[in-house]
Amino acid sequence: MADQDSRAGGRYATVQILDYAARTHHPDDRALRRAFEAPSRHGMPEIQLGPAEGRLLEMLLRLVAARKVVEIGTLAGYSALWMARALPPGGHLWTIEADPLHAEVAAEVIGEAGFGDRVTLIKGDAADVLPKLSVSAPFCAVFLDADKGRYDVYGRWATENLRTGGLLIGDNAYLFGKLLDDIEEARAMRRFHEEMAQHYRSVCVPTPDGLAVGVRVDPEA
Ligand code: SAH
Ligand code: DHB
Ligand code: MG
Repeated sequence: MADQDSRAGGRYATVQILDYAARTHHPDDRALRRAFEAPSRHGMPEIQLGPAEGRLLEMLLRLVAARKVVEIGTLAGYSALWMARALPPGGHLWTIEADPLHAEVAAEVIGEAGFGDRVTLIKGDAADVLPKLSVSAPFCAVFLDADKGRYDVYGRWATENLRTGGLLIGDNAYLFGKLLDDIEEARAMRRFHEEMAQHYRSVCVPTPDGLAVGVRVDPEA
């Protein structure tokens, strides 16, 4: 525990406190609950965002009045649903998923929730899909939540395809505690942090595994 931040004086939120805060601030509804539970129902990894992180994504997108959003890593569509809810009429979310089973489950979850028209689910490897998606740029927000060893590449793409004032958001920015290790995946994640620091007004929010958030700064300024 020697490396643990001690500024909270050793007092941390309990499960009961987190539960109270969640049900008070964002009581869940049926569609979101179904989406959250979909990975477990289908034997998929249960690596979706937590409810508070989903709510935060929704809020951030609303704050920048995001109309065109890209997500890399759909899983079963839980984070996609939170973001789709933030979109104004005519807004659109493109979400990219490489695993065919995950994509199939996500399509069902998004359709059932009534967001089929606002969300385009693209099946494929983000490395192949992103160059083609550039025709729809500039985007208002890009959310990274797929293969962590390529956040540097995805972050670079975001910088080239976001409007000024647009958001770049990356989950797992602490890389499961490995961010400072001497491995290629960690070097890639650190390049992503540095990309953000250079081209965005940014912060890494200390969620359980770090949520990096940056606002694209005017390239001319
Ligand atoms: N954003 C989701 C969780 C994503 S989990 C949520 O919060 O609900 C990460 C997902 O990224 C997995 O479904 C995995 O199959 C997908 N993925 C991994 N590498 C990918 C790649 N190169 N391109 C597209 N999807 C990828
Ligand atoms: C994993 C991926 C994630 O995006 C996450 O938030 C947690 C775990 C994983 O690949 O194990
Ligand atoms: Mg994640």
